[in-house]
Amino acid sequence: MSHITNSPFFIAPSILSADFACLGQEVQSVIHAGADWIHFDVMDNHYVPNLTIGPMVCKAIKPYATVPIDVHLMVEPVDTMINSFVAAGADIITFHPEASKHIDRSLNLIKDAGCRAGLVLNPATPVNLLEYVLNKLDVVLIMSVNPGFGGQNFIPECLKKIHQVRNLIDRYTEQGGQPIRLEVDGGIKVNNIAEIARAGADTFVAGSAIFGQKDYAQQINAMRNELKFIK
Ligand code: DX5
Ligand code: ZN
Repeated sequence: MSHITNSPFFIAPSILSADFACLGQEVQSVIHAGADWIHFDVMDNHYVPNLTIGPMVCKAIKPYATVPIDVHLMVEPVDTMINSFVAAGADIITFHPEASKHIDRSLNLIKDAGCRAGLVLNPATPVNLLEYVLNKLDVVLIMSVNPGFGGQNFIPECLKKIHQVRNLIDRYTEQGGQPIRLEVDGGIKVNNIAEIARAGADTFVAGSAIFGQKDYAQQINAMRNELKFIK
C-alpha cells in the first residue's frame, strides 16, 4: 500500500465512478492505491434525481474493503436505510438533514449500532443545523456540488462554508468535544485539493478524478503531494 499512514488527510475515493461490472476488484485496487476510506454513494431517485446502489452491494463489497466503508445516504426517508446499511457492514453513515424528519433520532440510530455518524450539508444548507448535535457527529460532510451525479464542477462558494465548519469544529474540540472529521464531496481534483484543504477540510471524496484515470495510485499520490505542505 502506497499511502502515508501518518497523514492527517484522508482520501475517500467514490466508487460511483468505478466500473460496476467488477466492483470488488475496483475496491481492492483503489485501496491498494492508497484509499483511506471507500466512499459509497446511495441515491434513491427521490431525494436526488439518480438511482445507484444499496445495502446488498455494500454487503457484497464488504469482504474486499479493508478500510472503512463511508456510506453517503442520498435517500428519503433515511431511517430504514440506516438499519439496512448497519446490517450490510457500513462503518460510517452520513445523511442529509433535509431527508430526515428527526435528525437527532436518525443520528442515534447510527451511533447506537456502533457506526460513526455524520450530517451532510448541501451547497445551500446552513451550518447552524449542526449546532445542537455536534456531540453525536464523527463527520461533517460538506457537498461542493449538488448531490446526484459524479463529474460535476466544484462550487467555489463552498470554501467559505468549509472555513466556517472548521472554526465550529475547532472551537468544539478545544472545549473538550470529540474529534470530528471535515469531509468535502464533489468536484475535487489534483488542481483544487490544496485550496480545499487550506479552507479547513481534512477528508476528500474524489470519484471521477480517481476512477477516470488508469493509474489510481498516481492520482492519489498526486493529491497527497498537493497536501504535503499544508498544516
Ligand atoms: C455526488 C456524490 C459524490 C460524487 C463525487 O452526489 O455524492 O460522492 O461521486 O464525484 P466527483 O468526484 O466526480 O465529483
Ligand atoms: Zn458522496
